Amino acid sequence: MTLVEHEQALSRKPRTILITGGAGFIGANFVHHWCQHYPGDRVVVLDALTYAGNRKTLAEQEAQANLRFVHGDICDRALVDALLQEEAIDTVAHFAAESHVDRSILGPDAFVRTNINGTFTLVEAFRQHWKAHNQPAHFRFHHVSTDEVYGSLGPNDPAFTETTPYAPNSPYSASKAGSDHLVRAYYHTYGLPTLITNCSNNYGPYHFPEKLVPLMCINILMGKPLPVYGDGQNVRDWLYVGDHCSALDVVINRGTPGETYNIGGNNEVKNIDLVHMLCQLLDELAPELPVRPSSKLITFVTDRAGHDRRYAIDATKLKTELGWAPAQTVETGLRQTVEWYLANRDWWQPLLSAEYQAYYEQVYTSV
Ligand code: NAD
Ligand code: TYD
Repeated sequence: MTLVEHEQALSRKPRTILITGGAGFIGANFVHHWCQHYPGDRVVVLDALTYAGNRKTLAEQEAQANLRFVHGDICDRALVDALLQEEAIDTVAHFAAESHVDRSILGPDAFVRTNINGTFTLVEAFRQHWKAHNQPAHFRFHHVSTDEVYGSLGPNDPAFTETTPYAPNSPYSASKAGSDHLVRAYYHTYGLPTLITNCSNNYGPYHFPEKLVPLMCINILMGKPLPVYGDGQNVRDWLYVGDHCSALDVVINRGTPGETYNIGGNNEVKNIDLVHMLCQLLDELAPELPVRPSSKLITFVTDRAGHDRRYAIDATKLKTELGWAPAQTVETGLRQTVEWYLANRDWWQPLLSAEYQAYYEQVYTSV
């Protein structure tokens, strides 16, 4: 912690924060961040432990007295009501979601249930809780969302800003768009102090193996084909997960209720270039690889249905209003991530279960 951050931590009023989806990739990184920066805060994690949730990721934090883990569903209104009340929650950081586009193509139902109904359950319960406490000004409901709600950009289009019209193209992004609209409406209709952030593609430690970066790292280590969808020219803006957490921190602590903030890394990269970067890093850092150079494993496969061509984020508002900027470039962040996957096989190897293999077969039948 820097001196400035330490001083900020000392001068702020402690929060009692409910973190939904705190056993998932970004949620767990955020729990680590929050416990480290605000040791005086009470942290309650609510997570259904779906295939994407992993309680092991929170083992160190759970050992601390100020964190409570609750295994439960955000769609369970009675449970949510009870937690808000008995823990006297004043802040919600809402990460819980079905988050993988490929799974939303195979089975959209769970996405509508958790992302739309679950967000509704949570924000409505929080509104009643806020009302019962005479609408305190310091309460916050922070909704974590994605840049995918804005749809797909052409090669020369300007990056997404907070006023770009929504145009979601997958069941995942459509369900996230629905949840964003609900949260926005709760500010405009009821005055509930909500905040929304729309962030670009994250990567980093504790990322479930189905997503591009961990999938490529793990397949390289196992000598398996590296499935690149379509022509590999799709562009994503990549942000190191620790930078996402620091952005969420400034928005929750200092953002203006009712506002939306875009979060991005200013790191637009074509998928094929990202895969080559990962191959080079693993060729350099992994002592034993079944296939070398690992780029020999790159295999172009049938494109994802409705695959968005390009995402790009304009994060000027967050920078000018709240002074946030990412600390990592894609080069430094990817190197740290590859080093983490090499050092933490115990974390990811058990996730390559029979259930995961069945999912993999279903998505990559043409590999
Ligand atoms: P993840 O899939 O890794 O984790 C989701 C977590 O939510 C899991 O722990 C899961 O068990 C839990 N969960 C799912 N359904 C639940 C339910 N009904 N009740 C309680 N818990 C439930 O997702 P992630 O990548 O960490 O994403 C977190 C949030 O950030 C999501 O809202 C996602 O839309 C958003 N987001 C993700 C990215 C990205 O690149 N991964 C980028 C921008 C925004
Ligand atoms: P992903 O990590 O699934 O994130 P999102 O779809 O939310 O952007 O995918 C990132 C990009 O990588 C996306 O353009 C799809 C592509 N991709 C592949 O080419 N092959 C793969 O096996 C996966 C998982 C993704």
